[in-house]
Amino acid sequence: MQKPNKRLKNQTCIVTGSSGGIGKAVALAMGAEGANVVVNYRSSKEAAEEVANEINKNKLCGEVIVVKCDVSKEQDVKAMFKTTIEHFGTVDVCVANAGMQIDHPLHEMPLEAWQKVLDVNLTGQFLCAKEAINEFLRRGMRKDVSNSLGKIIHMSSVHEVIPWAGHANYAASKGGLLMLMESICQAYAPHKIRCNSIAPGAIKTDINKDVWSTKEGRENMLKLIPYKQIGVPEDIGSVASWLASDESEYINGTTIFVDGGMTCYPGFTTNG
Ligand code: BGC
Repeated sequence: MQKPNKRLKNQTCIVTGSSGGIGKAVALAMGAEGANVVVNYRSSKEAAEEVANEINKNKLCGEVIVVKCDVSKEQDVKAMFKTTIEHFGTVDVCVANAGMQIDHPLHEMPLEAWQKVLDVNLTGQFLCAKEAINEFLRRGMRKDVSNSLGKIIHMSSVHEVIPWAGHANYAASKGGLLMLMESICQAYAPHKIRCNSIAPGAIKTDINKDVWSTKEGRENMLKLIPYKQIGVPEDIGSVASWLASDESEYINGTTIFVDGGMTCYPGFTTNG
């Protein structure tokens, strides 16, 4: 649990895909900072409600609502923002986190597997960022809660820079996020909107459970991590809540890698 210091008091934060994994840890961290939190899920309502209950245990948090939305569908995303704005008045922070993997060697990858991953991981984040920006611009500055008009955090991956054989759809979606995030920053920073990405490395969640749940998989994973530690969702939650707060105000248009050094290519330690 985060040390609560209420850096996000009176702010409202949407976290997509927050019924589990990294999104859940981000939602908990935002709640611990005093934010109102929108816990978004696509299919696991019960899990999302459990996350909401967990946030509510912290008396310092704002209010929590649970909203169903498939981020790859424009009407769903619009409805999620409408519900949030009707309930809380506005949105201050949007964490576009929902993402998925459907892995296949490229020469065997069905078009549907390519399309679905791009739809959720890239188009979904575009749709959320678009709605967030429109709301920030409509609402105008609220200096009493933040020096920024609004904050967008894209959940990227080390695979926005590390190529990933057998996962080209996923790597392409994350590579695309880099340019989406930077283009948003370039266009909207003059409006005092901050847009950044977090790039997690190997974090223990369901998405990579098939790897870390076996001894061999864990050993292989650790070979890729100079810090010799597999990450946990809370490692991302604490960075996200800081990145949403004014403590990181001058950070804009960048990716923060939270990966134990994975992007330092440890394979080159003794070779090359
Ligand atoms: C992927 C995980 C993987 C990690 C490091 C993440 O973006 O979703 O499956 O373990 O990158 O390769």
